[in-house]
Amino acid sequence: MGRIVPDSIERYLAGLNHLADPVLEDMARTGAAEDLPLIDAEVGALLRVLATSIGAKRILEIGTAIGYSGIWLAGALPSNGMLVTIEMDEERARRARQNFARAGFADRANVIVGDAKLMIAKVSGPFDVIFQDGAKSLYTPLLDRLVALLRPGGLLITDNVLWNGELVPGFKKKRTRDAADGRAIAEYNERINAHPALMTATVPLRDGVAIAVKRGSGELKPMLDTLARATHALREADFNDDASR
Ligand code: DHB
Ligand code: MG
Repeated sequence: MGRIVPDSIERYLAGLNHLADPVLEDMARTGAAEDLPLIDAEVGALLRVLATSIGAKRILEIGTAIGYSGIWLAGALPSNGMLVTIEMDEERARRARQNFARAGFADRANVIVGDAKLMIAKVSGPFDVIFQDGAKSLYTPLLDRLVALLRPGGLLITDNVLWNGELVPGFKKKRTRDAADGRAIAEYNERINAHPALMTATVPLRDGVAIAVKRGSGELKPMLDTLARATHALREADFNDDASR
């Protein structure tokens, strides 16, 4: 799909990635055959690592498609965790529910059918991870609502932020993607990188993945407590025992 990273490098990364399972591999083949806008296994692995690393229990996804990225995300959840995922297309949502069941996540995935702009008002946070992969024209309009739904220290991860490189002047001679969507994503990139509540880094994997952590006391307090304890321990420690004096 995205051609930011050279094909040979992507193939090398794909060869290293042994995290996928038969259901995911079957869905990836379906996605390729039908030209569905799915992430790939490398981005899937990144999502699962990120969600696992912060101990995510509640995940929100915008843009379910047939549930491919959702299965990677659900794989990070404990058995009492929950993925809420919003899909505009009823038929895709139906297939997603089937795929979640096939992958053993029927109890952990709630597929909501509808326009994310409307449905987002009905879901209640806080979420540990939000994966934004829905309509690109809604990336900026939904941003502040998504940030509000995220807990401090939670991650807002966004797909397609490099839009096939077409939003970088001079990178592509021929455009194949929707130009208005490209402009919408370029605006969104500026917003998330300048947002006072976010700290953002972008990984140019596949079609570009932006990873933003929500700032706030929840993110800093445990670290400050640990630092205070470590400082105290350092002050109290006597490194010079009698023998060395
Ligand atoms: C498109 C959308 C996506 O979310 C994606 O991953 C790839 C392509 C698209 O609209 O073209
Ligand atoms: Mg996408």
